[in-house]
Amino acid sequence: MSSLSNLLSEIVGRVFAAEGLDAVFGKVTLSNRPDLAQFQCNGALAAAKASKQPPRAIAEKIAARLKADPIFREVSLAGPGFINLNLADDHLAREMNRIHADARLGVSPRATPRTVVLDYGGANIAKPMHVGHLRAGIIGDSLRRIYKFAGDETIGDVHLGDWGLQMGMLISELALRRPDLPYFDKSFTGPYPKESPVTLAELEEMYPKASGDSKADPARMELSRQATAELQDGRPGYRALWQHFFDISVVALRRDYGNLGVHFDLWKGEAIVHDLIAPMIADMKKKGLVEESDGAEIVRVAEPTDKHEIPPVILVKSDGAFMYATTDLATIVDRVKCQNPDLSIYVVDHRQGLHFVQVFRAAKKAGINGKGELVHLGYGTMNGTDGKPFKTRAGGVMRLDDLYQMVTDEAMKKLDEHEIGSDYEAAEKLDIAHKVGVAALKFADLSNNPIANYVFDLDRFSSFEGKTGPYLLYAAVRVKSLLRKAREQNDTPGTILPPEPGERDLMLALGQLPDAIETAYADLAPNKIADFAFTLAQTFSAYYANFHILSETDTGIRRSRLAIAELVLKELELCLELLGIATPDRM
Ligand code: ARG
Repeated sequence: MSSLSNLLSEIVGRVFAAEGLDAVFGKVTLSNRPDLAQFQCNGALAAAKASKQPPRAIAEKIAARLKADPIFREVSLAGPGFINLNLADDHLAREMNRIHADARLGVSPRATPRTVVLDYGGANIAKPMHVGHLRAGIIGDSLRRIYKFAGDETIGDVHLGDWGLQMGMLISELALRRPDLPYFDKSFTGPYPKESPVTLAELEEMYPKASGDSKADPARMELSRQATAELQDGRPGYRALWQHFFDISVVALRRDYGNLGVHFDLWKGEAIVHDLIAPMIADMKKKGLVEESDGAEIVRVAEPTDKHEIPPVILVKSDGAFMYATTDLATIVDRVKCQNPDLSIYVVDHRQGLHFVQVFRAAKKAGINGKGELVHLGYGTMNGTDGKPFKTRAGGVMRLDDLYQMVTDEAMKKLDEHEIGSDYEAAEKLDIAHKVGVAALKFADLSNNPIANYVFDLDRFSSFEGKTGPYLLYAAVRVKSLLRKAREQNDTPGTILPPEPGERDLMLALGQLPDAIETAYADLAPNKIADFAFTLAQTFSAYYANFHILSETDTGIRRSRLAIAELVLKELELCLELLGIATPDRM
């Protein structure tokens, strides 16, 4: 992708090659001494080792050639062989006009697009979705947007937890409460009622009861297990109930994910791959990978180089039940069949790290992942201000719809404090509060490296000052309103002129967008985009304080500044979109 640094790396690389040295030594980065230069190249030092020449001599030869290139305003040497570079102002302006005119803002798409499946849902049917699933959704959806923008074909899969013991618990619970229902009558020949026998609220009340009772009482647990086994064997009444539970849960899950602007392309779950399990295990047996151990069927995945013990994958427990790993393996089979991805990214809590090591190894041993690379992005824990995993004030797990309400309320409070929207229609103000609330939540999450733990502090996240979502929204909205006012006075953005001294920093910042997106893509790190957006907003804010835009009397300069402002807005909006954050029109 062609950021300013990348363009310069190509130029300087060609000069190294012309000196008979490897072009990779020409790598140019933003200078770490911006007071001295805009860019730097340290390649002469590495080239010196490789070619047994003194670094300073190499740097001098490279610098002499670069000085002849009018793209540079200044080329100088420092220390043992660092090359400092300043771009010519008219070249900087040319670059700005190029990205301003480009729909992709200078970010080139990948040369070889890939098919990428992203697994970032994992919410469980009948259990209310809680903050544990929040990070998966926020990070995964942002990665999906980043990959899609890069040109890949992306498939976001919600991969619901809709199979296994929790379903048997619910079915047996309902059987105890309503034995009269036709679902429990083995002689009933159907058709079963179209309406669900329970509401979502009942389902959510039934689960903790069933789970608590099963844990406390082995006889009750046996009922749960029995129901699970019969469901998986295809007992018609149980399948019909399962479908009801699935359908009513999905309505709520779609609402919860939708409120947060987290999108999925596929609403599949664990249940859907059930029928793939038996043939998959048969195939693994044929390949000689399955062993019997205490009545269970296992695949050994330990390797001699392991530093910790990696236990075998259990495919079938001694009671005949399939395991979480079994379903994940069958899901790989299903994905190869349906999408044949080049890459699958699992955005799942880091505490499931061992599970994915086991599953990925077993998949590769059995060759079921086809051409697809498998990656687990294990995100860190969201902690409360007390440093422990986040809980509600009452000590329980926070439900996602409550959290959504909470961030909206907090945003409303902040809007009132800043007297924003006091003269707007109530519906618009509420819409702004939703957007500010979600921005606060998502930006706070995405401005951290996904693998780090972070502390959930709603008051700080919702502030309009500092590195927050609301600050960025406000910055973007401010530029929107500036451009609106310009249109009202019939001013349009024009050609960007060579920078005045105080404008260079902003232009250099604008030229770094492709780097931010490229690193976020390569490192699975949306925080690179969050960092970039924040720096850009701050740089623009300093610029806006020093440069008049609408009141500038020279038309050429005014229209150049308007174009710069417009480019800032486009880059900010793209970054926010890639983070999954929606921007209001006004605030
Ligand atoms: N349902 C699981 C849970 O709540 C998460 C599923 C994550 N995805 C996967 N392919 N295993 O822990």
